[in-house]
Formats: sequence, structure tokens, C-alpha cells
Amino acid sequence: MARKIAFLNYKGGVGKTSLIVNTAASLARRGMRVLLMDFDTQSNASIWLMKLERWNKINATGTGSIYSIFDPGVTRLKDCVIKDVVEGKDGEKLLPGLDLVPTTFNLVDLEGEYKPDPKRPSYVIFQEQLAEIESNYDFILFDCPPNVLRASQNGVYCAGEIYVPSNPDALSLIGFTLLVEKLLRFQQSSASFRTTAMGPASQVYGIVFNSIKANTDIEVPKMRMQLRLNQFKTQKRGCAPAAKICTTQIRDAMIVRRAVTLGLPVFLVGTEGSEADSVANDYMRLATEIIENAPPEIK
Ligand SMILES: Nc1ncnc2c1ncn2[C@@H]1O[C@H](COP(=O)(O)OP(=O)(O)O)[C@@H](O)[C@H]1O
Ligand SMILES: [Mg+2]
Repeated sequence: MARKIAFLNYKGGVGKTSLIVNTAASLARRGMRVLLMDFDTQSNASIWLMKLERWNKINATGTGSIYSIFDPGVTRLKDCVIKDVVEGKDGEKLLPGLDLVPTTFNLVDLEGEYKPDPKRPSYVIFQEQLAEIESNYDFILFDCPPNVLRASQNGVYCAGEIYVPSNPDALSLIGFTLLVEKLLRFQQSSASFRTTAMGPASQVYGIVFNSIKANTDIEVPKMRMQLRLNQFKTQKRGCAPAAKICTTQIRDAMIVRRAVTLGLPVFLVGTEGSEADSVANDYMRLATEIIENAPPEIK
């Protein structure tokens, strides 16, 4: 069974997309079969991995983007998968094993124009279609916007685990707290649709500190986050007993911003030098930590 993980925080700009793209790439490099699903209408992960020209073609028609499985609802999820998405200039495959289901800007319509059948919310449609392709993968990762509205709900409903990218500041802590509240509310409202075959509803398994500047002491924000996490665990609110602050933290590095512009995961940017290697190693260590932190039902 694939491990399904949503990266989510109620705070924007904390590094959800950078983390998920580079972690997905690191997992693929380790030989895992990985599917990354983009649920953020801003399409950052899709544009990053497809590069603008390829993505523009999908954005122009909407065909093959995630929203097309809901409206007009003819396309199946399996037809939206772009195999081995990372390509070089001549279309050569640079990272076999990393597939993408892209989004385009029309995903915003899921929040308003789309009128779901109350008996079949969009996340149920999505879950049924995901089940058709799940066995092709070791990991399915969901990049989500900073909320638990309809687009995110697809990921949250299907995932078993949630990882919370955070910066060492008060706003990330507020974002985490808000996330747990909204998560619980959504789990309650969607509980009647769940089947036992789906496994337990998603819970927080990890918090990842991202963009950590050199020589910065993050002990205080880390301690505050740990206290909040302990509180949720004791209250059994949305956080698994195994939930932890990941030992690996990702350093702040210019190369992460450059990698977006180049349309590549950091380790494929190919810059000689310690900064690129160091941050690429951070992502690789995080991938290892996630592999090792599997939920009990999957171990
Ligand atoms: N480790 C890092 N070092 C430097 N810049 C980073 C790092 N992680 C993310 N960024 C930058 O921070 C900004 C927000 O990151 P992003 O991944 O888009 O966050 P989110 O998806 O949470 O909105 C982007 O410009 C990104 O390139
Ligand atoms: Mg993002």
C-alpha cells in the first residue's frame, strides 16, 4: 500500500511546495515510485516540475489537469498522470520514478462554481479514482494550499499522514494550531464517507522546520512547537502518538529559489559547491526520516 502524505500548514510561504518537490525527488532518487499531486491552484509545484512552456499547454485547455476529473468529469485521474515528469532541454528523462498530477489555475473553481452532489463530495470522487492507481506507487504526496477547503480536502481525506512545514516563528505555530482545529472539523464531517479499506483518517506525523538561517538559534520556537504538539497528542487531537518534530531541518539556501526558476529539484541543479550539496543532503535526510517514520499500520 502506498504511503499517502499531505504537506500542510495554515500559514503560506513556509516552504510546503519546496519541501514536497525536493522530498519527492529525493524519494524517487532512492528508488521509490513517487506520485506528486498538486492541489494548490497557484500551480507552483506543477510549473516548477513541468517548466512553464509545458504547463502553459495544459493551462490553456485544462485538459489533463486535476480539475478536469471533477468538471467536466470525463477525464479519469489515471489519465492526468505525467510519467517521469522531470525532463532536460531535449526532453530526456532526468528523474525516472517521479510522476506528477498537475494542476492549473482552474482548480480555484472547485471552491465556488463547482456544485458537488452532497452524497458524493469531490474528495470521494477523488479517492475512488486514486484507488485505481495507488498500487503503482510507494509514496503519494499531496501539495496543498494553506487551508482545508475543497482542494486540500482531497489530499487530507486520502492521506494517512500529514507533515507540517514550519518556519521558526510564532505565525507557523498559529498555522499549526489552526490546521489541527480545521483538520478535526473536516474529519468529523467526512467520517460517514470513509470505508475501513481506506485505513485511519489522516493525522499529523511530523513537523519540519524549513529555511533555517546559519547561526540562528531556533531552540525557543522549537520548544513552543513541541509543547503544542505534546498537548495535541495528550488530548488525542489530530496528532499521532508517533508525531514528532523531525530531526532534519532544512537550511536557508539561495539555491532553493534558483531551483524553482530552473525547473529542477535542488540536487539536479548541478552547481558545484557546498551550499547546493548541503541543502540537497538536508532533503535527502528528510526523505530517509520520513521513510523510517512509517505509521504502525504500514510498518
Ligand atoms: N530552504 C529554503 N531556503 C531558501 N528559500 C526557501 C527555502 N524553502 C523555501 N524557500 C523560498 O520561500 C518561498 C516560499 O516557499 P514555498 O515552498 O513556495 O512555500 P509555500 O508552498 O508554503 O507557500 C519561495 O520563494 C521559496 O523558493
Ligand atoms: Mg505552495
